[in-house]
Amino acid sequence: MNDTMKNIELEKRIALPDALRVLMEEFPRNSWESNVQFDGLISFWLDKHMMFRRLMQAMITDSQQMIEGKLDSQQFQTRLSRYGGNFVSGLHGHHQIEDAHYFPVLEKMDTRLVRGFKILDEDHHALDRHLENFTKSANSVLQQNPISKDNQFVGDLNEALLGFDKLLDRHLVDEEELVVPVLLKYGMQGLA
Ligand SMILES: [Fe+2]
Ligand SMILES: [Fe+2]
Repeated sequence: MNDTMKNIELEKRIALPDALRVLMEEFPRNSWESNVQFDGLISFWLDKHMMFRRLMQAMITDSQQMIEGKLDSQQFQTRLSRYGGNFVSGLHGHHQIEDAHYFPVLEKMDTRLVRGFKILDEDHHALDRHLENFTKSANSVLQQNPISKDNQFVGDLNEALLGFDKLLDRHLVDEEELVVPVLLKYGMQGLA
């Protein structure tokens, strides 16, 4: 991949530039779990990412089932309120910890990767905009009482979630592939 500043924004990116993936050769994804350093901080942090992916998938599935008339509208709204609330507050808190605590420590461990942490920081701003759109869209759904399966707000929410999901997954995969090899190579000093 051409390592330029072009196409690194979250909306356009298909992977991190090769120059930022140098440690992935030494620590490919399929070796992480068996590494003695994996348990503890790394596995806890990856579990958080998995939780965001699960919440997103649950909301996508629910909105799809609602559109298809396979989910009771009351149940749909109750679940959306719970999953959506956990998702928004969880992701906000997660970004804050990464930006304020993890990234400043991690970027000092390997100067070749500093730019990668700037990219991830920018991603958080992009994701914040999507979180805001999602919140508005979910609130529109939750304010309808009752809501029907062909209400426009349900379709809008489903569409917003599908777009958000792609960007969230791109960010999580790239972040994991930058951060985990750094932790496995240099250790967790300053992070525990
Ligand atoms: Fe992040
Ligand atoms: Fe993260």
